Amino acid sequence: MEEITALAKRRGFIFQSSEIYGGIGGFFDYGPLGALLKRNVKDAWWREMVELRDDVVGFDSSIIMHPNTWIASGHVAAFHDKLVDCRNCKHRFRADHLATLEKCPDCGMSGTLTEPRNFNLMMKTAIGPMEDSASQAYLRPETAQGIFVNFKNIYQSARKRPPFGIAQIGKSFRNEITPGNFTFRVREFEQAELEYFVPDDGNDMPVYEAWVAARKQWYSDYGVRAERLRFYELPPQERPHYARAGTDVEYLFPWGWGELESIAHRGTYDLEAHMQLSGKDLMFFDEASKSKYTPILIESSAGMDRTTLTMLIDAYEHETIAADDGKISQRVVLRFHPRIAPVQVAVFPLARNKPDLVERAQNIEKALRPRFRTQYDEGNVGQLYRRQDEIGTPCCIMVDFQSVDDGAVTVRDRDSMKQDRVAQDQLASYLAQRLSG
Ligand code: GAP
Repeated sequence: MEEITALAKRRGFIFQSSEIYGGIGGFFDYGPLGALLKRNVKDAWWREMVELRDDVVGFDSSIIMHPNTWIASGHVAAFHDKLVDCRNCKHRFRADHLATLEKCPDCGMSGTLTEPRNFNLMMKTAIGPMEDSASQAYLRPETAQGIFVNFKNIYQSARKRPPFGIAQIGKSFRNEITPGNFTFRVREFEQAELEYFVPDDGNDMPVYEAWVAARKQWYSDYGVRAERLRFYELPPQERPHYARAGTDVEYLFPWGWGELESIAHRGTYDLEAHMQLSGKDLMFFDEASKSKYTPILIESSAGMDRTTLTMLIDAYEHETIAADDGKISQRVVLRFHPRIAPVQVAVFPLARNKPDLVERAQNIEKALRPRFRTQYDEGNVGQLYRRQDEIGTPCCIMVDFQSVDDGAVTVRDRDSMKQDRVAQDQLASYLAQRLSG
């Protein structure tokens, strides 16, 4: 993990937020490559969950919502972690993270930990110039509630009828007591949530199972190693009372298994809770039968920061290479799936002091730019390849002296390190095939 966090900083994937002021716990910034990686992960989710389906519509709700939203959802009353304080060193801990309450894990003193008490994880803010109880609001701790309160607006305007889904990707905030493990547990993060509404006609469990299978397929399509991924089916005692089924998608991180996503059969709980508090009707009105009902909800809720971190960790490899002449060398390579790799094609001239090679390489990069995520670079050949391996670029194009004569270039494959000679006019179709994944 230390190697990965060092690489993430060195190559511009992830930085600690406000680093020059000593950082701020639980917040991170994405550098140029990290921003691309995360965007590609989100796009991959959106493409599969929204664009390639005719039964899911997209949505984007505000981060701050009417405070009653969080009363109806149960977050005001129950979105708590149990917290203990050490009276000696003043450090705070999540009670469920401690092996014993006898002794402080930081200062080692016995009998200094307080009794566990509830700590609400929602972040508070104030709206308008007066900071009193009437102006108090929350930064949303999940994006889902924006979908529930808009259910009627959406199904009516989009002319959808269950079964259909509403998807959104957006920021959520949780005042985690103990943020940690890099970007795994943070206080500001992005969620990608799908709320899929189905009629109460007895077909809900097969729909739930189909979503679990679809999500399994998504992780597999983007190359997450099957042996580091598990789908944990929650037994009844681990599910909320209203949930008929639940599956946690977990990844084997360097520190152990951690949750990437939760998939849940939530019954009619969420819509009913909002109908009760708001007094507004959020039932689905079926024009054909002139009857109405509250649809059942199947939810898939994935953390985009955790998924991005997973992609980074899963792709990371420290490899020992034996050359044909028996020479042993090492390289660090990120084996990103080509569709999520921040840079897909890098183009270099063999020598940076040869204007015709430089110009040719720059022109190739410019010509490929509209179709692929490209980068032009120049310098020592070994270092160029090393740098691109470290940022996970699947294809590198070298323009050499022969290119000037025959118009062909060398394309090096990141994983096999094999090189192909490709005619310049065939490059775009060659790359399209190689990068299709
Ligand atoms: N609407 C359902 C919901 O929010 P959740 O299991 O609390 O369910 C869903 O959160 C996902 O959001 C998690 O599986 C995780 O990937 C991500 N997530 C939750 N808290 C997080 C945190 N503090 N830091 C990073 N990601 C988090």
